[in-house]
Amino acid sequence: MTKAIYPGSFDPVTNGHLDIIDRASKVFEHLIVAVLENPRKDVMFSMNERVQMLESVVDCYDNVEVVCHQGLLVDFAQKQGVSIIVKGLRAISDFEFEFQMALVNKKLNCDIETMFMVTNNMYSYISSSIVKEVSSYGGDIRGLVPPKVYSMIKNKIFKRSNNKTTK
Ligand code: PNS
Repeated sequence: MTKAIYPGSFDPVTNGHLDIIDRASKVFEHLIVAVLENPRKDVMFSMNERVQMLESVVDCYDNVEVVCHQGLLVDFAQKQGVSIIVKGLRAISDFEFEFQMALVNKKLNCDIETMFMVTNNMYSYISSSIVKEVSSYGGDIRGLVPPKVYSMIKNKIFKRSNNKTTK
């Protein structure tokens, strides 16, 4: 069975992520969406919330599962017995860092192959960071994230502003 891992921090899941999941699920017989920590990013959602968010948007796929892991991606891949990592590439600006990560992962485990899928140009301007920034200023993020994720973000922002006013 051809298996692949689609890793990310998914904080939050965007329509761009979902497009890669949809297309990768057609290329590979089994796709593991791996929720990992990215130490370079501040998070809005806990790991459990991100898993729950992803599960709610991939429940229509029989061959997609969501798993979280704290630690190195290559260790996770080895534990799962998977040697293919799928990453989405939005623009040249993504390439430099993705290239570095692919090489580091290859150095850590030479059996791991990273494959890049070019993002659909409808979604190439969307990133989790942009979604967090726009939503934190009350901007409209519909069309950037799946409807279930939109509700989760709205709830999170509502709770945060309630916490601020009660303090
Ligand atoms: O969606 P992101 O934030 O671009 O995903 C990055 C992620 C989470 C895949 C990356 O930070 C990662 O692999 N984290 C796990 C730790 C690790 O293996 N780091 C070494 C690769 S540089």
